[in-house]
Amino acid sequence: MNQQTVTVDLGDRSYPVEIGSGTRYRLAEHIPANARKVAIVTQESIGIEVDSGVDQRVFHIGQGEEHKTIDTIERLTREWTQWGLNRNDVVVGVGGGIVTDVAGFAASVYHRGIPVIHVATSLLGQIDAAIGGKTGVNLAEGKNLVGTYWQPRAVLCDVDTLETLPARHYRAGLGELAKYHFLDDGQMNELSTADLIDGRLAADELIERVVASVQLKANAVMGDEREGGSRALLNYGHTLGHALETLGNHELLHGEAVAIGIAYAAEVALDMGRIDAARVEQHRAVLAGYDLPMLPPGAPRFDDIAPLLARDKKALDGITFILDSAQGCEVVTGVDIDLLAASYERFVS
Ligand code: GLY
Repeated sequence: MNQQTVTVDLGDRSYPVEIGSGTRYRLAEHIPANARKVAIVTQESIGIEVDSGVDQRVFHIGQGEEHKTIDTIERLTREWTQWGLNRNDVVVGVGGGIVTDVAGFAASVYHRGIPVIHVATSLLGQIDAAIGGKTGVNLAEGKNLVGTYWQPRAVLCDVDTLETLPARHYRAGLGELAKYHFLDDGQMNELSTADLIDGRLAADELIERVVASVQLKANAVMGDEREGGSRALLNYGHTLGHALETLGNHELLHGEAVAIGIAYAAEVALDMGRIDAARVEQHRAVLAGYDLPMLPPGAPRFDDIAPLLARDKKALDGITFILDSAQGCEVVTGVDIDLLAASYERFVS
């Protein structure tokens, strides 16, 4: 069995991320000896069964961002109380980013915090959402505006679970994967050439990319757990991406929006003289290699996008973008709105 482990080293809160074929069958190894019950949080459509080795019960949450709410947290925690889940017990999130964000948040506040393990079943979850302890729910005013940092006890990334992922969701995961090509010193680009077969990576290429991405994510989390600085670089492509998701009422999948956001961020960096045209072409080549979209559907007007850029969670000082440079990506605050508008017009024309 091809399995590899990346450790997120956070002292006494360190944990393994187990990547490969069949890692979900190792769940019981990570359940503490004194746990008596395990609450499995998942969605009906996921259909992945896990065995914790102790008394377990499944708690379903609804499909879609509209169920990632405080109401869902209240319902889950009330059901756990009625079942008798206590502070020695464990929550296991089985699903993509919505499930692991919700399961992690509910675990972090239940009895002031009980252990959580994630079995990530989407590509996006395996290379990003399930790792690093960010949890949260949405408000009507925006995505992930209420949440906690709550590191899991283990993350199981079983690549076999991706086989049943719908093609569009798989491709959206590639959008987050593309991001890592610009956040390292070229290591991702040295991997074997990605040949998509029917929109998917071959098993070995997939595992090597998931391992490399998880290592980059782990490094970012170990270096800046609570996003005081460098962890924000993981949001490359997300400033425009989040705005497009909100504007389109989440019709665009997150990874698709990130891919478009990466293509736009390259244009902004070009207009600011931070990178040259060849580097913009590199961005486009990586995105094209994963068959990702590079233009917003329906060409929304910049005037509709601009207010959403300023509402981004990273926007501490005016409009904040992660932008590439000869030294790599950097967090750039106070980006000029007129420059952003001009870059956008050129980008969509
Ligand atoms: N998804 C970005 C982060 O975990 O920081």
